[in-house]
Amino acid sequence: MKNQKIYGLVAFESGTGAMGKEGKLLWHLPSDLKHFKNLTKNQTVIMGRKTFDSIINACGSPLPQRENIVLSKKTTNIDTYKDVLFVDSMDKALEHSKGETVFIIGGGEVFKTFSNIFCGVYATILDTHKTDNADTFFPIDTLNQFTKKEIIGKFYENSIKYQIIFFSR
Ligand SMILES: NC(=O)c1ccc[n+]([C@@H]2O[C@H](COP(=O)([O-])OP(=O)(O)OC[C@H]3O[C@@H](n4cnc5c(N)ncnc54)[C@H](OP(=O)(O)O)[C@@H]3O)[C@@H](O)[C@H]2O)c1
Repeated sequence: MKNQKIYGLVAFESGTGAMGKEGKLLWHLPSDLKHFKNLTKNQTVIMGRKTFDSIINACGSPLPQRENIVLSKKTTNIDTYKDVLFVDSMDKALEHSKGETVFIIGGGEVFKTFSNIFCGVYATILDTHKTDNADTFFPIDTLNQFTKKEIIGKFYENSIKYQIIFFSR
């Protein structure tokens, strides 16, 4: 096993953990996107296949300037995206990742299964209540295993108040 630092990176609604609907995010928060980009640039990002599909739908390509690794039991996309590594287990994702720092970026299913391996979580926590619309949730109870270490920023954008907080074990 490599000596890797594995972080969760997520944005969710306070109280409910709501994080997505029908393959999309429920909000547009420019400062959070900038934070995501700065943190993960030139690093490895690991994601579930549905999150990968949602990135392709939204951006038209895998995340640039990052090593993209996608968890999937299927082999459908393997030939379409040559720069993306598709693997069928987290062990393989971590084994093949080039970086010592790895960000697991979702979605709900992947967070539910793998939050136990995070050494820390970068959580963007929104002060909104759109639960009626959501179909994907971050398992917020898992944050009980972590300690709030740092408030990275407080923001108000597109009528949404939110904080970016770093939690560690
Ligand atoms: N707010 C946020 O921070 C945030 C972040 C990311 C995503 N999202 C949202 O979350 C939603 C997607 O999340 P989701 O829970 O539906 O799906 P997901 O976790 O992104 O992907 C699930 C898929 O990943 C693959 N997978 C999961 N665990 C695996 C394992 N142990 N081994 C191999 N493959 C595995 C499977 O793919 P196959 O079916 O191909 O086998 C599974 O169907 C979207 O709405 C997206 O916008 C929000």
